[in-house]
Amino acid sequence: MTGKGIGYGKTILFGEHFVVYGLPGIASAIGDYTVAEVEDGNDGLTFVDNRSAIEGYKETKKEEISRQLDAIFNFMKIDVNVTPLKISLSGNLECASGIGASAALASSIARALDEHFDLGLSNDQINEIAFEGERGGSGSPSGIDNTCSTYGGMITFEKNITGGPNKIQLLDVAKPLEIIMANTGITQETKVVVADVKTEKEKHPELYERIFTEYRRIFTEAVPAIKHGDVQKIGKLMDENQKLLREITVSCPEVEKIITTAKSSGALGAKLTGTGRGGLVICLSPERHATDKIANAIEHEGFKTSKTVIGKK
Ligand code: MEV
Repeated sequence: MTGKGIGYGKTILFGEHFVVYGLPGIASAIGDYTVAEVEDGNDGLTFVDNRSAIEGYKETKKEEISRQLDAIFNFMKIDVNVTPLKISLSGNLECASGIGASAALASSIARALDEHFDLGLSNDQINEIAFEGERGGSGSPSGIDNTCSTYGGMITFEKNITGGPNKIQLLDVAKPLEIIMANTGITQETKVVVADVKTEKEKHPELYERIFTEYRRIFTEAVPAIKHGDVQKIGKLMDENQKLLREITVSCPEVEKIITTAKSSGALGAKLTGTGRGGLVICLSPERHATDKIANAIEHEGFKTSKTVIGKK
């Protein structure tokens, strides 16, 4: 039987990189998703990747994808030499750094394997498999990406760094957020950037302690702002979060150019989202009518954009 499954793309509103160290973050699934189909294969693994992707993405991620697949098969005790499989990927999620494409891959494949082998897995088990896929791909992920990809919605997420279950809560959003996602066109390996931040943190423990304390305050203020629909406040906090991301060296000139353009054309706040040093920038629009103006200004600077609304019921 052909197994089929989907995994959502995501955007991190607050807390990328900090979540790796057990600090809480806020992320949302977006409407776009990856579709995986699994069927019997002829010899070992046949992998067909029909996802659309920005230039260079698939080449840069080749090794990472292969590690993800190995990790998923290992965890699920599937030996493709004994049970040959064909896995095909498609869907409307355009792959780029920062959109959660690797988590969407892992979670859609986990769902498709579940259906193909008729395993009857729960969402929690799918999420666990997707996390193992992420671990294979990017070393020591927090789990925030696969959690969004698997469950959808807007969540607060806190990794349990002592190994127990992570703290995940669905956020009740008063007012859906009008978002512009702008693409720097640069693809990064999450594993490399996360490892660099770790080295920096070890070199400058006091600086990071101060940064973590400031970030905790941002998160604490962001939760009620989202719950009450205070978009001005959310925008201001996004800018403050970006300031800290600069300090941990994960911004880059292209990200900064997009932020400056977005802010000067009316965005309430803008920050990188996900891995950083390229990838995507998330810009918060005050309302529907302003969204086009902000997106056009960014496009005028040569960056691709897409518009989305997050936190819809
Ligand atoms: C990547 O989308 C988000 C990071 O915080 C890594 C992780 O949480 O696993 C950079």
